[in-house]
Amino acid sequence: MFEEPLSVAAVADALGDLACRFDVDVLAECDSTNARLLTLAEAGAPSGSVIAALRQTAGRGRRGRSWFSAPGDSLTFSLLWRLPPDTPWSGLSLAVGVALARALDDMGIAGVSLKWPNDLLLNERKLAGVLIELVPGARPAAAVIGIGLNLRRPRGLPDDLCRTAAALTDADIALSPTGKLLAQLLTALHAVLSDFAVSGFSPFREEWQSRHAFNDRAVHLLSDYAEPLEGVCRGVDPDGALLLETGEGRQRIISGEVSLRPS
Ligand code: BTN
Repeated sequence: MFEEPLSVAAVADALGDLACRFDVDVLAECDSTNARLLTLAEAGAPSGSVIAALRQTAGRGRRGRSWFSAPGDSLTFSLLWRLPPDTPWSGLSLAVGVALARALDDMGIAGVSLKWPNDLLLNERKLAGVLIELVPGARPAAAVIGIGLNLRRPRGLPDDLCRTAAALTDADIALSPTGKLLAQLLTALHAVLSDFAVSGFSPFREEWQSRHAFNDRAVHLLSDYAEPLEGVCRGVDPDGALLLETGEGRQRIISGEVSLRPS
């Protein structure tokens, strides 16, 4: 399944007619595909540029954390997407989650759900993370969308992370070679981002909510800057903000710099 090495040719082949919409590069090693692509974006790289790396030495995660992935155990890539002027960006990370979930559904993987703001879960364990970084100074705005997807259960992870991590090999189906897998994810992202460029997050809201693992469930939100907040998830608003029913009434959570945990 994942043994076939990831190559530009394999991705292009699997993309078919969409190959002309992407400019894919596969690196044996880099610090972070997001960092690399941000540099290229600042130098004018086109929308649809993709960098995948077999190994990252300084992978970046949300909330300023590192993203650990052992070579071969995970698919790590970043996609540069430039949206037309005046497209509202709010909800972009949630729309990306919808694209990834759709792609995995199409592969026949059951048990995929989303966790606000942008984790992809398999049977309620983390299967993939998304880190979106805006390109500094880009007008119109441009985003580097970084995705780390566990292929196999990561080796050498601390026990607590191992308990909460999932991998595609947990799914009970025959899986595609990595090049095809990347092409399937890019195809789904292309469809969603093209619609997002026209209508923003609103058309994805209902689907996102139906895929949210914690809808109507009690959670607490952890932040580096504030006390934990307890409440019940009541969906998201048209901007993608989480609606949390708390003791003090309904709160609108906009900061992606928080982590949600089931109570
Ligand atoms: C998270 O913390 O959940 C987001 C993790 C995002 C990791 C991916 S791996 C590819 C891309 N390059 C990076 O440095 N980070 C993202």
